[in-house]
Amino acid sequence: MSKVDVLLGLQWGDEGKGKVVDVLTPRYDIVTRFQGGPNAGHTLEFDGQKYVLRSIPSGIFQGGKVNIIGNGVVLDPLLFMKEAIELAQSGHDLTQRLFISKKAHLILPTHRLLDKANEAAKGKAKIGTTGKGIGPTYTDKISRNGLRVGDILDNFDAKYAAAKQRHIEMIESLNALALKKGGEAVPFDGLDELEKEWMQGVEYLKKFKFIDSEHVINNMLKEGKSLLCEGAQGSLLDVDFGSYPFVTSSNTVCAGACTGLGIAPNKIGEVFGIFKAYCTRVGSGPFPTELFDETGAKIRAIGHEYGAVTGRERRCGWIDLVALRYTIMLNGVTQLIMMKSDVLDTFPTIKACSSYKVNGVETREFPFSIDEGIEPQYVELPGWNCDLSKCKSEADFPKEFKDYIAFLEKELETPITILSVGPDRDQTICR
Ligand code: GDP
Ligand code: IMO
Ligand code: MG
Repeated sequence: MSKVDVLLGLQWGDEGKGKVVDVLTPRYDIVTRFQGGPNAGHTLEFDGQKYVLRSIPSGIFQGGKVNIIGNGVVLDPLLFMKEAIELAQSGHDLTQRLFISKKAHLILPTHRLLDKANEAAKGKAKIGTTGKGIGPTYTDKISRNGLRVGDILDNFDAKYAAAKQRHIEMIESLNALALKKGGEAVPFDGLDELEKEWMQGVEYLKKFKFIDSEHVINNMLKEGKSLLCEGAQGSLLDVDFGSYPFVTSSNTVCAGACTGLGIAPNKIGEVFGIFKAYCTRVGSGPFPTELFDETGAKIRAIGHEYGAVTGRERRCGWIDLVALRYTIMLNGVTQLIMMKSDVLDTFPTIKACSSYKVNGVETREFPFSIDEGIEPQYVELPGWNCDLSKCKSEADFPKEFKDYIAFLEKELETPITILSVGPDRDQTICR
């Protein structure tokens, strides 16, 4: 096995990354998160328990493996504290085996307000963010105004006060803009209380080891240790390649693992690309194969497609092979992982979008804009009408499902090596 493997989502998020990272963790020594923050919601189920992780890597449930929050992540100390305390209460104390990069950026309480104010100022064109302050925190990082975990150890109060003051002025000016457009201003009430709790989070964070993660990771690799990098969000939410501007504010593609951890590109081996047997999206933005009819509602109901972070309804549609070919290309995916096929068990036929017609011209390549003028061209395959969740091995799969897998592998020119047929850790079949 190569020393650094990456697992990431190929659609618009919620593909099931958390579940599979947990399943694969026994193969590795270290599990890391390299981008995103508490906008992520990774659900894991085993032994009749369900856990939702936001900032903490999904490798923490498998023995004493080292888990690292990398420099590319944005961390909210308050949300982190809540998540870690919940885990400690359920018997998973992490203080000795979860390490945090000193270079990870901090999400301040005012970043959350700025997120709201930005959305309000956009009016109808809002992104539909998770409201966790992700965009403003990455904006501060890129504009060289951010605060990092390492700053907590050095003159933090003064640095925090300056950042807060700057944010308040920005929120006031965004509020003025929103009011001018007939929108609503974001109120400051509650900020003092939030700030108090957030500072408790900062104190709590100090229980964990802050590390120079790029050195620690590369030294561990030198010692022959192996690493699994866990992506958050999905490749179609990547700030460069996703459906801009309806994206998140980080590089969710494989290259993000290099910048978000300090790992050289030539160290990366396997790239696991994970996708659902259909497709979902939360928030605003284009979604060519979205279903607005009963079929979409049926997928949502059977697949429990509601956001783990915000509880919002996930928009549902058929699988989009044009988008998948694009994200497989961008990430250099070497192995595919298909999730949630069991959700389609009762569908008489299954559709897959194999090409788009863009203003009447057929293409298999993902275009600059998927906003308008796109007509998905579908292939319709027979359903399997069988309970996949009971299958224990590939031999149990019905013929129609085997044909569906073979069809996808041909269209995507990449092998599907893992299939998930239910939310539980045990409902995973490696081929
Ligand atoms: P992530 O953000 O990529 O980790 O994915 P989420 O956890 O947000 O969403 C995936 C959801 O599907 C979770 O509720 C999982 O418990 C559930 N899930 C994962 N794999 C399967 C599967 O194969 N079948 C079914 N029915 N549910 C699954
Ligand atoms: P996981 O890791 C699905 C979406 C939001 C919004 C856009 C920008 O669970 O797959 P942000 O708060 O990041 O500025 O929001 O991105 N989004 C996600 N959608 N799963 C996620 O994470 C997401 N994280 C962000 O809904 O459309
Ligand atoms: Mg999720």
